[in-house]
Amino acid sequence: MSSKPFAESAYRNAGPILEVLAHEFRHCTEVLEIGSGTGQHATAFAAELKHLEWQTSDLEEYHDAIRAWIADCGAANVRAPLALDVRTAELPGESYDAVYSANTAHIMSFESVGDMFSLAGSVLRPGGTFCLYGPFRRGGEFNTPSNANFDANLRARDPAMGVRDLEDLDAIGDENGLQRTALYAVPSNNCVAVWRRLQEGRQ
Ligand SMILES: C[S@@+](CC[C@H](N)C(=O)[O-])C[C@H]1O[C@@H](n2cnc3c(N)ncnc32)[C@H](O)[C@@H]1O
Repeated sequence: MSSKPFAESAYRNAGPILEVLAHEFRHCTEVLEIGSGTGQHATAFAAELKHLEWQTSDLEEYHDAIRAWIADCGAANVRAPLALDVRTAELPGESYDAVYSANTAHIMSFESVGDMFSLAGSVLRPGGTFCLYGPFRRGGEFNTPSNANFDANLRARDPAMGVRDLEDLDAIGDENGLQRTALYAVPSNNCVAVWRRLQEGRQ
């Protein structure tokens, strides 16, 4: 085993997210993950969801970690990371029937979140599924004081960061041919939001 970067939160939330993905991606074959981070989710999920080919991606500074997790996991269905920054990403010719991202929407600027949805809308085949895990506000309200504190800490660190309103994400989804179909509450006070790529694509 190599010594690899380890994210405690990714370890803790993997089980509950896996339950959602096992259902939402049950008919899918190829997943693009945006912002794979350490690579822990990719390797844990690919090992369990063997019907999927899992394409990892992130900014290049994360690639050594992702490659180390892939090397150690032994799963043949996880692909080496693409260098993918949503602000500049174009993946001509690439198409997937699933897109997954965790804990990215509150780290990226709101404009970049729009870029992520635009990318998801462009690479997803009609009927494809986008699952986004993280904390969300609903109707401008936080679901817990701890998520309000988390948001305040993020914004103090960088005013462009912050917990996003689900309604704003739905509006961006609409602009990119993605309609929300489900919302799963998972520990710890987070959710997996699910959008489906409409047959006719972008509005
Ligand atoms: C908090 S980490 C989450 C990592 C992993 N998904 C997890 O849940 O443990 C945020 C991730 O978003 C990625 N990210 C931030 N801005 C990005 C951008 N513009 N394009 C692609 N990924 C980005 C970071 O590189 C990082 O991997």
